Amino acid sequence: MNLVFLGPPGAGKGTQANLVTKQCGIPQISTGDILRSAVANQTPMGVKAKRYMDDGLLVPDDVVVGIVEERLSSDDCVVGFILDGFPRTVAQADALKVMLQGAGRSIEHVISFEVDHSVLLGRLTGRRMCRSCGRGFHVVFDPPAETGVCDGCGGELYQREDDREETIRRRLEVYDEQTAPLKSYYEAASLLRKIDALGTIESVQLAIQNIIASR
Ligand code: AP5
Repeated sequence: MNLVFLGPPGAGKGTQANLVTKQCGIPQISTGDILRSAVANQTPMGVKAKRYMDDGLLVPDDVVVGIVEERLSSDDCVVGFILDGFPRTVAQADALKVMLQGAGRSIEHVISFEVDHSVLLGRLTGRRMCRSCGRGFHVVFDPPAETGVCDGCGGELYQREDDREETIRRRLEVYDEQTAPLKSYYEAASLLRKIDALGTIESVQLAIQNIIASR
């Protein structure tokens, strides 16, 4: 099962990808997570990416396409994958098509998380991430059992640098300008499946399960 999760910042792509990974055993490939790890490790790619991420802008296409191409060639992706946050531009979608065709593979579903922008600010300002395992929480909608501590591994929870109000607004503008056009791109290819991402985490999970089961 090869899936793409498409949606604005805070729509719940990472939360749901994590659940599908646990349920179906296919890896979650989050370009955002890979880039944040490169930033934390101060690799040359991370140093280059940091200024774009801090400003809420997209990292250049060639950088993220290279990341995904390398990651998709890993052994654990043979059973399938969830692309979480990639592609984000038409150029990235074209590059993905070429790389999958070259490997004799294809996307089964592009799941579009439909959500009103007005709820996203609250979701993102309340988000907390685990420094050790990367799991996401929300102070209200998905709180950890103990404040500031990851339920899964006991790691320290922190707030992402780009989850500040100003940066969130910029990220939403960038989504509208550069990523939202991918909906018609994938609709034209008959791959787009829209889900209501405004509901609870459990109801969104059910909608995704139904799509996966419909194959
Ligand atoms: P990335 O890390 O991909 O961020 P994003 O797309 O902006 O998405 P988010 O992680 O913010 O949101 P999400 O949809 O995963 O929501 P989540 O599940 O966490 O990218 C970061 C940056 O990296 C980009 O700005 C860019 O600079 C760069 N980058 C990454 N990929 C790139 C690419 N392909 N090209 C170029 N640059 C790239 O949920 C959010 C919160 O809401 C959580 O607290 C969660 O608990 C809560 N929540 C989730 N679902 C629900 C629900 N149903 N109800 C209530 N609360 C919920």
